[in-house]
Amino acid sequence: MTRIRKAIFPVAGLGTRFLPATKAMPKEMLPVVDRPLIQHVVDEAYEAGIEHLVFVTGRNKSVIEDHFDRQFELELTLIERGKKAELALLSDALPEAGTVSFTRQQSPLGLGHAVWCAREIVGHEPFALLLPDVLVKHKRGCLAQMIDAAAELDANANIIAVEEVPSDRVHMYGVVGVGPAKGKAFSITKMVEKPKASEAPSNLSITGRYILQPEIFGILEKQAAGAGGEIQLTDAMLALAATQPFYGLKFEGRSYDCGSKIGFLAANVAYGLDRPDLAPEFRGEIERILKGQ
Ligand code: G1P
Repeated sequence: MTRIRKAIFPVAGLGTRFLPATKAMPKEMLPVVDRPLIQHVVDEAYEAGIEHLVFVTGRNKSVIEDHFDRQFELELTLIERGKKAELALLSDALPEAGTVSFTRQQSPLGLGHAVWCAREIVGHEPFALLLPDVLVKHKRGCLAQMIDAAAELDANANIIAVEEVPSDRVHMYGVVGVGPAKGKAFSITKMVEKPKASEAPSNLSITGRYILQPEIFGILEKQAAGAGGEIQLTDAMLALAATQPFYGLKFEGRSYDCGSKIGFLAANVAYGLDRPDLAPEFRGEIERILKGQ
């Protein structure tokens, strides 16, 4: 497969499930331990070899742009105070100049429309798409696992990450139908956005990581609204699967749906317990809380 250089991050959502925290702050900036959600997902993209970040933003999202820029006053203060470790943390979040693009989704018409808004920036090459609501925790990031798997697939393959969910939750996700295996992946036979449990083709949900061919943009341009009255990426992917190979990958690792409060809290616990500098004390605190002390 052609090298994947660009990744789209749709960050235009309103974050209503986290009000009032998201009244003046984008949900993508909520911290999991001490990194904003969006930073975790950008880290995953860089690990997979992505070189150019494409953010599809909306109103009230400009602090995301600031987060990926220099902060001169803070840098100067840290230099004056000799705080080298903190300075390193600042530069750690800084992409190389010219490798980040921002475009706006002017109306909340759905994920499919958000992706389409990035068409001019992505151009005619395959790209990755990462939904910042979802964190996948594993020693090798989910997108890197997908790029590894794609190396064994057709040059024009599309590949999406999937995972098993209980059948009483399939209505919250896009769900795929499972065809023959190919390497670590399998052919996708069907895709339905937010199906009723009785109509779901399997219990494998789409997890928010995609590698797509640029032909998706032409389909999205004409895509009618689907589930929830929104222009659904899943519907456009189903149309693309009629003309190009389309695969699912059951990735290794655990996902945290940080678009939900429970998933977000669980991610903070899991990522906190994974930090050598925090884990011993944090574990003790959790144990005390659970014992009601
Ligand atoms: C979106 C996609 C859906 C996918 C989900 C993963 O839905 O449309 O196919 O399963 O993300 O989180 P949303 O969560 O935006 O409703």
